[in-house]
Amino acid sequence: MSRQIKVHIGEAKQPVGTLFFNASGNRESCGFEYTSEWIESRDSFTIEPGLPRVHGRAFRSKKAEASVFYGAIADSEPDGWARQVILRDYGKHRKEAMDRGGTNTYAPLTSIDCLLAVDDYSRVGALRYQDENGLFQRAAGKGKRSAPPLIELDSLLRASAAVETDSETAADLEYLRGRGTSLGGLRPKCTIVDQDGSLSIGKFPSVHDTYSVTKGEVLALHIAKAAGINAAQSRIAESDGISVALIKRFDRMQGDRIPYISAATLLGIEDSHSIHTYTEIIDALKRYSADYQADAEELWRRIALTILISNVDDHMRNHGFLHVEKDLWRLSPAFDINPFPEKHRVLKTWISEGTGDAASIKLLMEVAPYFGIDFKRARALLDSVESAVSRWRQIGKKIGMTPTELNAFETAFEHDERKIARQLLAAYP
Ligand SMILES: Nc1ncnc2c1ncn2[C@@H]1O[C@H](COP(=O)(O)OP(=O)(O)O)[C@@H](O)[C@H]1O
Ligand SMILES: [Mg+2]
Repeated sequence: MSRQIKVHIGEAKQPVGTLFFNASGNRESCGFEYTSEWIESRDSFTIEPGLPRVHGRAFRSKKAEASVFYGAIADSEPDGWARQVILRDYGKHRKEAMDRGGTNTYAPLTSIDCLLAVDDYSRVGALRYQDENGLFQRAAGKGKRSAPPLIELDSLLRASAAVETDSETAADLEYLRGRGTSLGGLRPKCTIVDQDGSLSIGKFPSVHDTYSVTKGEVLALHIAKAAGINAAQSRIAESDGISVALIKRFDRMQGDRIPYISAATLLGIEDSHSIHTYTEIIDALKRYSADYQADAEELWRRIALTILISNVDDHMRNHGFLHVEKDLWRLSPAFDINPFPEKHRVLKTWISEGTGDAASIKLLMEVAPYFGIDFKRARALLDSVESAVSRWRQIGKKIGMTPTELNAFETAFEHDERKIARQLLAAYP
């Protein structure tokens, strides 16, 4: 099976190139070729460092653990939650067809089917895909709205919980599929149109949660803001007593779509299990950041916060970049940061090669010169992060968390690394 998909960018649907896809059983491969217009246009850019803007077709085949697609495209693929919804919906349709006595015309889904099953309106970043018939994938039918308004939250929650407990109906899947379940990541979520018309991500509680994970995420994002970090705007929305984290989409601005790539894509990392370091991100920032020093400090602050709030999920797809101009990018607002109570505090992304996975303030201070940050500045940055984290209960109360809900997070916020941070700050006033 082979496909040729036109790749466009932004609301204006500017043509960028063609995506070629081939599948033969489990063997998948893809190619990409920029259009001459894109290569020659003065304000075009390289959609990711792995795809230089040159004439001719680039090829790649699928390797284990990696997407068949180039990183920038893979970042707009469904994974985890969205893939689950797409596969289940497909499976239900196939079963219905077989039950009706039909022949099985439903071949197993390939990577391109999943990529194109994502809703065009809410797809992450600015890339858009047009099929061989000229249709943008997947555009909602005429007069249909794909991303649901906030008011539909209760239906969304009910259908998502049904999927998680394997009790969903075909109607639940049909509903979720048509509703902007377009985002990557593992947890149940959906794109939602907020009251002011802007796009947000609704992150839902999972039926497996033992504490309010959604409130914890909003709390972490608010603490991050208090620590001077550029964090995604967030709030808690309630529906029938269930709390949803509503996180404003940062890849939509003034009616346009902003190109987005993950840190994994910027660094050319394909395998999510390999070990990588923050110092590698620094090396990439030197080359690709539109404001290196500001991004380096911002990243250092985010590591300090990650350590102090016990965020243990800081992998390379939980860091991202928004396009600025030419081949320059900036760190996107911080997202998917969570306080994890009762967890052994380690980092998914190591501070540097020599540190191992230790979530250590001391090691972070030692690496500051690599980030171009002198001791005095590092102390000031640590001070602002520690002072915000020390107010975690007040901030939690402000966003509407009860003392019982807050108590569940105690071990995420009160631990030895906080003490070490305070001792260090006191030793160098
Ligand atoms: N505020 C946002 N604006 C735009 N894209 C986002 C935003 N937050 C997350 N994303 C994208 O959606 C993906 C999934 O979101 P994430 O919060 O990481 O979910 P999960 O907890 O399931 O991993 C991210 O990897 C990123 O590509
Ligand atoms: Mg994530």
